[in-house]
Amino acid sequence: MKVKLWTIVYTKGGEMDDSIEMELASLASAERDRSFLLVKGLGRAVCLTYMVNTALVFPWYRRSQVCGVLRLLRGRKGTVVDLGSGDGRLVCAVASQGFRADGYELNPFLLGYSRLLAHRKGLASQATFHRRDLFEADLRQYRNIVIYGEPVILRRLEQKLAEEVTSGSRVICCRYKLPTWAPTTTLGEGIETIYVYDKV
Ligand SMILES: C[S@@+](CC[C@H](N)C(=O)[O-])C[C@H]1O[C@@H](n2cnc3c(N)ncnc32)[C@H](O)[C@@H]1O
Repeated sequence: MKVKLWTIVYTKGGEMDDSIEMELASLASAERDRSFLLVKGLGRAVCLTYMVNTALVFPWYRRSQVCGVLRLLRGRKGTVVDLGSGDGRLVCAVASQGFRADGYELNPFLLGYSRLLAHRKGLASQATFHRRDLFEADLRQYRNIVIYGEPVILRRLEQKLAEEVTSGSRVICCRYKLPTWAPTTTLGEGIETIYVYDKV
């Protein structure tokens, strides 16, 4: 761009007459158009990746983890809590297996969707969704605690789990493990790994 501008100025003998100004304006506008097209292309690529992920990869991935959690709850008793319950699919799946299940979630849209899902599946009396910070949940009342949270959340949560999880309870962490606890067992591998911690 700089070279082109200099060429125009040089060939016209340094005079910034109207035609040079017009050429400069058209060059600047072409540059703007190129940048706009680039941003538009990038935006489309990001949207497409997000849509494919949401429509194909994430549901498949979550289905597989939900099945894993249900396997790990087989034969267990007591209430289940999902800390950060997202779209409510895990809470509903667990409730459909006869458990009483609670979800804690801050996102109001996901909460609305979760309640609708529970209602449509006829699970409204077994599945309850709280619009509250997961750190405010009283974990003493739950025998089964499920979390699919980022490591930064798990670092904070570990201390709360140590104080509140009662003997005989099971903590199930999807994808990310607790930073210092040693899992009793694991299920799956890679990003599908589920870590299980049984409190003795
Ligand atoms: C990875 S999603 C897991 C969704 C669901 N548990 C599942 O397994 O499908 C994590 C969810 O935790 C929620 N979340 C993050 N921090 C939270 C907090 N402090 N309190 C409540 N929910 C939180 C997010 O809004 C998000 O929906």
